[in-house]
Amino acid sequence: MNTVLITGAARGIGLELVKQFLESGSQVFATYRGNTPPASLTDLLSTNRLSLRPLEVTDQNSIEALAVLLEGISIDIVINNAGIIGPKDQSYNKMDVKGWIEAFEINTVAPLMLTNALLPNLAMSDRPRVITITSQMGALNRESKGMLAYRSSKAAANKVMQVLALELKEQNVTVCPVHPGWVKTDMGGENAEISVEESAQGIVTLANNITIADTGKFLTWEGKEHPW
Ligand SMILES: NC(=O)c1ccc[n+]([C@@H]2O[C@H](COP(=O)([O-])OP(=O)(O)OC[C@H]3O[C@@H](n4cnc5c(N)ncnc54)[C@H](OP(=O)(O)O)[C@@H]3O)[C@@H](O)[C@H]2O)c1
Repeated sequence: MNTVLITGAARGIGLELVKQFLESGSQVFATYRGNTPPASLTDLLSTNRLSLRPLEVTDQNSIEALAVLLEGISIDIVINNAGIIGPKDQSYNKMDVKGWIEAFEINTVAPLMLTNALLPNLAMSDRPRVITITSQMGALNRESKGMLAYRSSKAAANKVMQVLALELKEQNVTVCPVHPGWVKTDMGGENAEISVEESAQGIVTLANNITIADTGKFLTWEGKEHPW
């Protein structure tokens, strides 16, 4: 049985990951932001395998407080899922710079800071894995216009995870950035290609299957390699 920590679990892909990992028998730590856990998560508390923890991923004090709460607990899988699409204005000639920086704080910086804070927990696992939900919108091989803040923050997140994979290989920690598909969530919108259930199912399967031989690969929700 895996112990899994999922950030940004109040809705969207994160919430569905919580549900599916619980169904597969895992112990789940789900994080939410704000003072009280949302009903979407408290509704799932009938199982004693779910624990809810507050986390604002951009706040180092919040990350450290989470690490203290989890001290001594082995974690097999950390899923850096929390993310934002970025500001309304994010084109080359109309850029909300504050919003761009916020996108970097949440999408790029936070996954590294959280993973680093939870390394003692990962070190207690036989097969520690870190999955960061990035996006094919950050892939350098794809030529598409617009959405500069989001694309650049996810491209940078891919790079951070590629470097982290190399850094943590000796410690046997598998690190993979993952494109979750274009998913029907608040972020993906209703015209997206796949349901949240399909995306989460793919991510759960790949999270269960990846080994240190996969570390540093950029994967899709279907478990295929995505070009950088
Ligand atoms: N949907 C897609 O098509 C798609 C495609 C490619 C990649 N992705 C990536 O997949 C991940 C999940 O996306 P989604 O579609 O499920 O998005 P979503 O429905 O908008 O949910 C995002 C989640 O992230 C949390 N979050 C945002 N900022 C946070 C912060 N500062 N601290 C803590 N939690 C924070 C939100 O918390 P609140 O509920 O408190 O706001 C929410 O739970 C994101 O990283 C996104 O970039 C999504």
